[in-house]
Amino acid sequence: MTALEKHLDERDLARSLRADVREGLTGTPKRLPPKWFYDARGSLLFEDITRLPEYYPTRTERAILEANADRIAGITDAKTLVELGSGSSEKTRLLLDAMLRRGTLGAFVPLDVSESALLSAVASLTDAYPGLSITGVVGDLTRHLRHLPDGDNRVVAFLGGTIGNLVPDERAAFLGDLRAALHPGEWLLLGADQVKDPGVLVPAYDDAAGITAEFNRNVLHVINRELRADFDPLAFAHVARWDPDHEWIEMRLRSTRDQQVHIRDLNLTVPFTTGEELRTEISAKFRRAGLTAELAASGFALRHWWTDPRDWFGVALAQAV
Ligand code: SAH
Ligand code: AVI
Repeated sequence: MTALEKHLDERDLARSLRADVREGLTGTPKRLPPKWFYDARGSLLFEDITRLPEYYPTRTERAILEANADRIAGITDAKTLVELGSGSSEKTRLLLDAMLRRGTLGAFVPLDVSESALLSAVASLTDAYPGLSITGVVGDLTRHLRHLPDGDNRVVAFLGGTIGNLVPDERAAFLGDLRAALHPGEWLLLGADQVKDPGVLVPAYDDAAGITAEFNRNVLHVINRELRADFDPLAFAHVARWDPDHEWIEMRLRSTRDQQVHIRDLNLTVPFTTGEELRTEISAKFRRAGLTAELAASGFALRHWWTDPRDWFGVALAQAV
């Protein structure tokens, strides 16, 4: 049987989607939080993105973990590995293998807002690691960190660069909440994509096959289904732009015509003018010094920093102090 704990049921999800859509589509400029990309289809589209030639983060982070998983296991002596925004937990197998080789690990707790991604990850990990206690948690990493399982020698992995999808205020609040949930000496293993040439960054978010465009538009399909809206996703063009001031990629959906969208469950009509853009995601890119300072401000000391030969992606091992 697949072990799942739910801190978000259908009603909580519906309530927070309604609030986010109302606030985001009635504000100026219009915006939506990226967590709503990840229904079953969006989670599969993200997995497709990870295999695109242009999308370097996943394979780069995997190579860093391959090279350093045994060291991470040796430094942390993890008894419980928690993973936030775990998705398919594919790369996490490298950590599980190393921590099991080390002989310390007893439990793995992946947490994700996407129940479908979590269910399939927990089912295949339970098959692959029969001796390990595996409990998936359906939850929001910006709201439910107090429900992390207690224990000692916990390592919290937050991989993929997903920290960059939080806006700066959310990021600071998240790091503060995480620190409050940990005991001194426990660990955060954080994957962070680094600032680099926009000639590399932009194609990673605007691939030739159009998979990222479909992923971006998926949020409109989610709102259509969940809130009985009538977005025409094909009337919105995918936009990926590097913002050099904030050092983040912004994904947007640009209305290709003047149009009105009706969101029946909110009793709301949303006008879009031709060319008007809706921000659907930021993906912040980091520098080691800036990230070290942000971690320190939240009570984490950076102990190790591993990168790839091109210095494109960073994996930080930080300790709660
Ligand atoms: N960690 C995996 C997946 C990254 S995709 C990897 O490195 O490949 C981002 C994942 O974070 C998705 O599975 C998505 O459902 C989840 N996610 C996004 N926002 C979240 C939130 N606020 N709370 C919990 N999970 C979230
Ligand atoms: C999950 N997250 C780290 C991805 C990223 O790169 O910001 C989401 C994504 N958006 C477009 N492509 C991938």
